[in-house]
Amino acid sequence: MIPEAKTEAAIDAQCCFASQCLHLVASTVYISGVAGCDVPEFMMDTEIQGRAAHVAAIRERAEAEMKAMGIDEAFIDRLVETFYGRVLQHPTLGPVFDARLSGRWPEHMHKMKSFWSSVALRSGAYGGKPVQAHIGVSNLSADLFPQWLALFSETLNDIAPNPEAKAWFMATAERIARSLTLSLFYNPALDDPQRKPA
Ligand code: HEM
Repeated sequence: MIPEAKTEAAIDAQCCFASQCLHLVASTVYISGVAGCDVPEFMMDTEIQGRAAHVAAIRERAEAEMKAMGIDEAFIDRLVETFYGRVLQHPTLGPVFDARLSGRWPEHMHKMKSFWSSVALRSGAYGGKPVQAHIGVSNLSADLFPQWLALFSETLNDIAPNPEAKAWFMATAERIARSLTLSLFYNPALDDPQRKPA
């Protein structure tokens, strides 16, 4: 049990979406009966059942927390539709997205709804690899990320059900944008103290 928990925790830790990782690592520890687990002994031999129940409990809790802020599938649907509608009209973001997604927009919209539903409601609907998806997007540069975030913020100002919902989406998007920016553009060699100025 314990080695498996360690392996899964190590895999989860590679995921860049930190809040989700913490839940996954926590659930691994919980299900595997490591310190802190209060699942009765008889449930341990039905690990799959226990895991499913635990995932369902995480989902229920997330849905309740989000519902209290007015965030549900209907709002996520509206947010994604409104935001990417504006992305397309944006002078710098629009061309970058459209060059890559021309002819594939419906698929992208579906993915983005699944993505936010997974992050907010823990629905498990999204199973992609965001970092890989952004590699090779032509003309994607680090300075576009603040523009993406500013447009997301404006969109939320217009349609978020309340300030808490806006704050949650912004904090989450900022964390993911930071993570994507580091993965895509950070070059540790540039921080080498031995490096001579150009
Ligand atoms: C300037 C900023 C950004 C640009 C230009 C950009 C552009 C794109 C493009 C062109 C794709 C489609 C890739 C493909 O299917 O070939 C994509 C996918 C995606 N983007 Fe972004 N993106 C940006 C920021 C973000 C941010 C901040 C997030 C999260 C909050 C995000 C989440 C995603 C996700 C989840 C996908 C789908 C990945 C998959 O295929 O599974 N992106 N993005």
